[in-house]
Amino acid sequence: MGLLTDRVAVVTGAGRGIGRAIALALAGEGAQLVLAGRSVDALEQTRKLTADTERDPLVVPTDITVPDQVEALARATLEALGGVDVLVNNSGIGGPSAPLWEVDPADWEATMAVNVTGTYLCCRAFLPAMVTRRSGSVVIIGSMTGKRPLVGRTPYAASKMALVNRARASSTVTPSASACRSITQSIRSPSTGPGEITFTRTPYDPVSAARVRARPTSAILLAA
Ligand SMILES: NC(=O)c1ccc[n+]([C@@H]2O[C@H](COP(=O)([O-])OP(=O)(O)OC[C@H]3O[C@@H](n4cnc5c(N)ncnc54)[C@H](OP(=O)(O)O)[C@@H]3O)[C@@H](O)[C@H]2O)c1
Repeated sequence: MGLLTDRVAVVTGAGRGIGRAIALALAGEGAQLVLAGRSVDALEQTRKLTADTERDPLVVPTDITVPDQVEALARATLEALGGVDVLVNNSGIGGPSAPLWEVDPADWEATMAVNVTGTYLCCRAFLPAMVTRRSGSVVIIGSMTGKRPLVGRTPYAASKMALVNRARASSTVTPSASACRSITQSIRSPSTGPGEITFTRTPYDPVSAARVRARPTSAILLAA
Protein backbone atom coordinates (compact mmCIF):
# COMPACT_ATOMS: atom_id res chain seq x y z
CA MET A 1 0.00 0.00 0.00
CA GLY A 2 1.46 3.36 -1.08
CA LEU A 3 1.20 6.83 0.41
CA LEU A 4 -1.48 7.75 -2.13
CA THR A 5 -3.60 4.62 -2.30
CA ASP A 6 -7.25 5.61 -2.87
CA ARG A 7 -6.23 9.17 -3.81
CA VAL A 8 -7.06 10.71 -7.16
CA ALA A 9 -4.27 12.74 -8.76
CA VAL A 10 -4.61 14.82 -11.93
CA VAL A 11 -1.37 15.66 -13.75
CA THR A 12 -1.34 18.12 -16.64
CA GLY A 13 1.35 17.72 -19.28
CA ALA A 14 1.67 14.07 -18.23
CA GLY A 15 2.72 12.83 -21.67
CA ARG A 16 6.39 13.60 -21.37
CA GLY A 17 9.19 15.23 -19.40
CA ILE A 18 8.66 16.26 -15.81
CA GLY A 19 4.90 15.62 -15.99
CA ARG A 20 5.46 11.99 -16.97
CA ALA A 21 8.03 11.57 -14.18
CA ILE A 22 5.59 13.04 -11.64
CA ALA A 23 2.79 10.82 -12.92
CA LEU A 24 4.90 7.69 -12.61
CA ALA A 25 6.01 8.66 -9.11
CA LEU A 26 2.40 9.24 -8.01
CA ALA A 27 1.32 5.95 -9.62
CA GLY A 28 4.12 4.22 -7.74
CA GLU A 29 2.52 5.47 -4.52
CA GLY A 30 -0.80 3.96 -5.52
CA ALA A 31 -2.63 7.05 -6.78
CA GLN A 32 -5.44 6.75 -9.28
CA LEU A 33 -4.10 8.99 -12.05
CA VAL A 34 -5.82 11.27 -14.50
CA LEU A 35 -3.43 12.10 -17.33
CA ALA A 36 -4.06 15.35 -19.21
CA GLY A 37 -2.35 17.03 -22.16
CA ARG A 38 -2.93 17.58 -25.85
CA SER A 39 -1.16 14.56 -27.35
CA VAL A 40 -3.19 11.38 -26.85
CA ASP A 41 -0.30 9.22 -28.07
CA ALA A 42 2.04 10.69 -25.47
CA LEU A 43 -0.52 10.24 -22.69
CA GLU A 44 -1.11 6.63 -23.75
CA GLN A 45 2.66 6.02 -23.58
CA THR A 46 2.68 7.29 -20.00
CA ARG A 47 -0.35 5.14 -19.24
CA LYS A 48 1.48 2.04 -20.55
CA LEU A 49 4.44 2.83 -18.30
CA THR A 50 2.14 2.50 -15.27
CA ALA A 51 1.14 -1.04 -16.25
CA ASP A 52 2.69 -2.64 -13.18
CA THR A 53 1.03 -0.22 -10.73
CA GLU A 54 -2.25 -0.64 -8.86
CA ARG A 55 -4.59 1.44 -11.02
CA ASP A 56 -5.18 2.07 -14.70
CA PRO A 57 -4.99 5.83 -15.38
CA LEU A 58 -7.78 7.78 -16.97
CA VAL A 59 -6.54 9.56 -20.10
CA VAL A 60 -8.30 12.84 -20.90
CA PRO A 61 -6.94 14.77 -23.90
CA THR A 62 -6.99 18.42 -22.85
CA ASP A 63 -5.69 21.72 -24.10
CA ILE A 64 -5.49 23.68 -20.86
CA THR A 65 -5.86 27.00 -22.67
CA VAL A 66 -9.41 26.09 -23.74
CA PRO A 67 -11.93 26.63 -20.90
CA ASP A 68 -14.46 24.07 -22.22
CA GLN A 69 -11.78 21.38 -22.42
CA VAL A 70 -10.59 22.07 -18.88
CA GLU A 71 -14.19 21.94 -17.62
CA ALA A 72 -14.60 18.62 -19.45
CA LEU A 73 -11.43 17.31 -17.77
CA ALA A 74 -12.82 18.16 -14.34
CA ARG A 75 -16.22 16.68 -15.17
CA ALA A 76 -14.66 13.45 -16.49
CA THR A 77 -12.53 13.15 -13.36
CA LEU A 78 -15.34 13.76 -10.89
CA GLU A 79 -17.84 11.56 -12.73
CA ALA A 80 -15.45 8.63 -13.18
CA LEU A 81 -13.60 8.81 -9.88
CA GLY A 82 -15.89 10.68 -7.50
CA GLY A 83 -13.44 13.42 -6.47
CA VAL A 84 -9.96 14.82 -6.73
CA ASP A 85 -7.23 14.88 -4.12
CA VAL A 86 -4.22 16.23 -5.97
CA LEU A 87 -3.92 18.58 -8.94
CA VAL A 88 -0.44 18.93 -10.40
CA ASN A 89 -0.28 21.95 -12.70
CA ASN A 90 2.73 20.90 -14.70
CA SER A 91 1.88 21.88 -18.30
CA GLY A 92 4.07 24.73 -19.45
CA ILE A 93 5.98 26.10 -22.39
CA GLY A 94 9.33 27.86 -22.48
CA GLY A 95 8.28 30.68 -24.78
CA PRO A 96 10.63 32.73 -26.94
CA SER A 97 14.24 33.68 -26.19
CA ALA A 98 14.75 37.23 -27.46
CA PRO A 99 15.09 40.81 -26.28
CA LEU A 100 11.69 41.99 -25.09
CA TRP A 101 11.11 44.33 -28.02
CA GLU A 102 11.72 41.51 -30.48
CA VAL A 103 9.21 39.17 -28.87
CA ASP A 104 6.27 38.55 -31.17
CA PRO A 105 2.99 39.42 -29.41
CA ALA A 106 1.60 36.04 -30.46
CA ASP A 107 4.50 34.27 -28.68
CA TRP A 108 3.97 36.43 -25.58
CA GLU A 109 0.26 35.57 -25.58
CA ALA A 110 0.94 31.87 -26.12
CA THR A 111 3.35 31.74 -23.16
CA MET A 112 0.84 33.47 -20.88
CA ALA A 113 -2.04 31.39 -22.22
CA VAL A 114 -0.46 28.07 -21.24
CA ASN A 115 1.60 28.95 -18.19
CA VAL A 116 -0.69 31.45 -16.47
CA THR A 117 -4.22 31.20 -17.86
CA GLY A 118 -4.10 27.43 -18.35
CA THR A 119 -3.00 26.91 -14.75
CA TYR A 120 -5.71 29.29 -13.54
CA LEU A 121 -8.37 27.45 -15.57
CA CYS A 122 -7.32 24.11 -14.08
CA CYS A 123 -7.41 25.46 -10.53
CA ARG A 124 -10.77 27.09 -11.22
CA ALA A 125 -12.19 23.81 -12.47
CA PHE A 126 -10.93 21.56 -9.67
CA LEU A 127 -10.86 23.75 -6.56
CA PRO A 128 -14.64 23.75 -5.95
CA ALA A 129 -14.57 19.97 -5.40
CA MET A 130 -11.64 20.33 -3.01
CA VAL A 131 -13.27 23.21 -1.15
CA THR A 132 -16.47 21.18 -0.73
CA ARG A 133 -14.50 18.29 0.74
CA ARG A 134 -12.26 20.66 2.69
CA SER A 135 -9.18 18.87 1.50
CA GLY A 136 -6.90 18.70 -1.48
CA SER A 137 -3.46 19.59 -2.74
CA VAL A 138 -2.69 21.91 -5.62
CA VAL A 139 0.87 21.78 -6.84
CA ILE A 140 2.16 24.43 -9.21
CA ILE A 141 5.33 23.74 -11.12
CA GLY A 142 7.06 27.08 -11.14
CA SER A 143 10.67 27.62 -12.09
CA MET A 144 13.86 29.10 -10.78
CA THR A 145 13.36 31.47 -13.72
CA GLY A 146 10.40 32.94 -11.90
CA LYS A 147 12.70 34.02 -9.08
CA ARG A 148 15.95 34.68 -10.89
CA PRO A 149 15.14 35.34 -14.55
CA LEU A 150 17.27 33.92 -17.31
CA VAL A 151 18.54 36.54 -19.74
CA GLY A 152 16.26 36.88 -22.77
CA ARG A 153 13.43 34.76 -21.34
CA THR A 154 11.17 37.63 -20.27
CA PRO A 155 7.79 36.07 -21.19
CA TYR A 156 8.65 32.81 -19.43
CA ALA A 157 10.04 34.58 -16.36
CA ALA A 158 6.98 36.86 -16.19
CA SER A 159 4.64 33.90 -16.50
CA LYS A 160 6.35 31.88 -13.77
CA MET A 161 6.49 34.85 -11.41
CA ALA A 162 2.78 35.37 -12.07
CA LEU A 163 2.17 31.77 -11.03
CA VAL A 164 3.98 32.22 -7.74
CA ASN A 165 1.92 35.27 -6.86
CA ARG A 166 -1.30 33.73 -8.17
CA ALA A 167 -0.80 30.86 -5.76
CA ARG A 168 -0.05 33.21 -2.87
CA ALA A 169 -3.13 35.28 -3.65
CA SER A 170 -5.44 32.25 -3.82
CA SER A 171 -4.29 31.04 -0.47
CA THR A 172 -5.54 34.24 1.14
CA VAL A 173 -9.01 34.23 -0.44
CA THR A 174 -9.87 30.56 -0.13
CA PRO A 175 -12.69 30.16 2.38
CA SER A 176 -11.06 27.22 4.07
CA ALA A 177 -7.31 27.30 4.48
CA SER A 178 -7.26 23.54 4.72
CA ALA A 179 -9.07 23.23 1.41
CA CYS A 180 -5.96 24.05 -0.50
CA ARG A 181 -3.41 24.01 2.23
CA SER A 182 -0.63 22.93 -0.04
CA ILE A 183 -0.75 25.90 -2.35
CA THR A 184 1.63 28.07 -0.42
CA GLN A 185 3.63 25.09 0.76
CA SER A 186 3.99 23.99 -2.83
CA ILE A 187 5.38 27.19 -4.09
CA ARG A 188 7.72 27.40 -1.15
CA SER A 189 9.05 23.96 -1.83
CA PRO A 190 12.28 23.91 -3.78
CA SER A 191 10.99 20.96 -5.74
CA THR A 192 8.44 23.18 -7.47
CA GLY A 193 10.99 25.69 -8.69
CA PRO A 194 13.21 23.39 -10.69
CA GLY A 195 16.38 24.45 -12.45
CA GLU A 196 17.37 23.07 -15.84
CA ILE A 197 16.10 19.52 -16.29
CA THR A 198 16.80 17.81 -19.57
CA PHE A 199 13.91 15.69 -20.69
CA THR A 200 12.07 16.54 -23.86
CA ARG A 201 11.77 20.30 -23.54
CA THR A 202 13.61 22.60 -25.92
CA PRO A 203 16.65 23.54 -23.86
CA TYR A 204 17.52 27.08 -22.82
CA ASP A 205 19.38 28.65 -25.70
CA PRO A 206 22.69 30.13 -24.46
CA VAL A 207 23.40 31.59 -27.93
CA SER A 208 20.26 33.74 -27.78
CA ALA A 209 21.11 34.70 -24.23
CA ALA A 210 24.58 35.81 -25.28
CA ARG A 211 23.02 37.84 -28.10
CA VAL A 212 20.75 39.59 -25.63
CA ARG A 213 23.54 40.18 -23.13
CA ALA A 214 25.69 41.75 -25.83
CA ARG A 215 23.22 44.66 -26.18
CA PRO A 216 23.76 47.36 -23.58
CA THR A 217 20.10 48.44 -23.68
CA SER A 218 19.04 44.86 -23.03
CA ALA A 219 21.22 44.80 -19.97
CA ILE A 220 19.52 47.97 -18.69
CA LEU A 221 16.06 46.56 -19.28
CA LEU A 222 16.91 43.19 -17.82
CA ALA A 223 18.39 44.75 -14.72
CA ALA A 224 15.23 46.80 -14.10
N1 LIG B 1 12.81 21.23 -17.91
C1 LIG B 1 13.26 22.19 -17.12
O1 LIG B 1 14.46 22.45 -17.01
C2 LIG B 1 12.29 22.98 -16.27
C3 LIG B 1 12.81 23.85 -15.30
C4 LIG B 1 11.93 24.60 -14.52
C5 LIG B 1 10.56 24.45 -14.67
N2 LIG B 1 10.09 23.60 -15.64
C6 LIG B 1 8.64 23.53 -15.77
O2 LIG B 1 8.25 22.18 -15.64
C7 LIG B 1 7.08 21.93 -16.44
C8 LIG B 1 7.34 20.76 -17.39
O3 LIG B 1 8.52 21.02 -18.13
P1 LIG B 1 9.17 19.91 -19.10
O4 LIG B 1 10.62 20.19 -19.11
O5 LIG B 1 8.71 18.56 -18.72
O6 LIG B 1 8.56 20.39 -20.50
P2 LIG B 1 8.10 19.54 -21.80
O7 LIG B 1 8.89 18.30 -21.92
O8 LIG B 1 8.13 20.53 -22.94
O9 LIG B 1 6.58 19.16 -21.48
C9 LIG B 1 5.60 20.16 -21.43
C10 LIG B 1 4.27 19.49 -21.20
O10 LIG B 1 3.27 20.51 -21.21
C11 LIG B 1 2.20 20.08 -22.02
N3 LIG B 1 1.52 21.21 -22.64
C12 LIG B 1 2.04 22.22 -23.38
N4 LIG B 1 1.08 23.02 -23.81
C13 LIG B 1 -0.09 22.52 -23.34
C14 LIG B 1 -1.45 22.89 -23.47
N5 LIG B 1 -1.84 23.96 -24.19
N6 LIG B 1 -2.39 22.13 -22.85
C15 LIG B 1 -2.04 21.05 -22.13
N7 LIG B 1 -0.78 20.65 -21.97
C16 LIG B 1 0.19 21.37 -22.58
C17 LIG B 1 2.87 19.19 -23.09
O11 LIG B 1 1.95 18.23 -23.59
P3 LIG B 1 1.25 18.35 -25.03
O12 LIG B 1 2.22 19.04 -25.93
O13 LIG B 1 0.92 16.96 -25.42
O14 LIG B 1 0.02 19.16 -24.77
C18 LIG B 1 3.94 18.49 -22.28
O15 LIG B 1 3.46 17.31 -21.71
C19 LIG B 1 6.78 23.25 -17.18
O16 LIG B 1 5.81 23.98 -16.46
C20 LIG B 1 8.12 23.97 -17.14
O17 LIG B 1 7.98 25.35 -17.23
C21 LIG B 1 10.92 22.87 -16.44
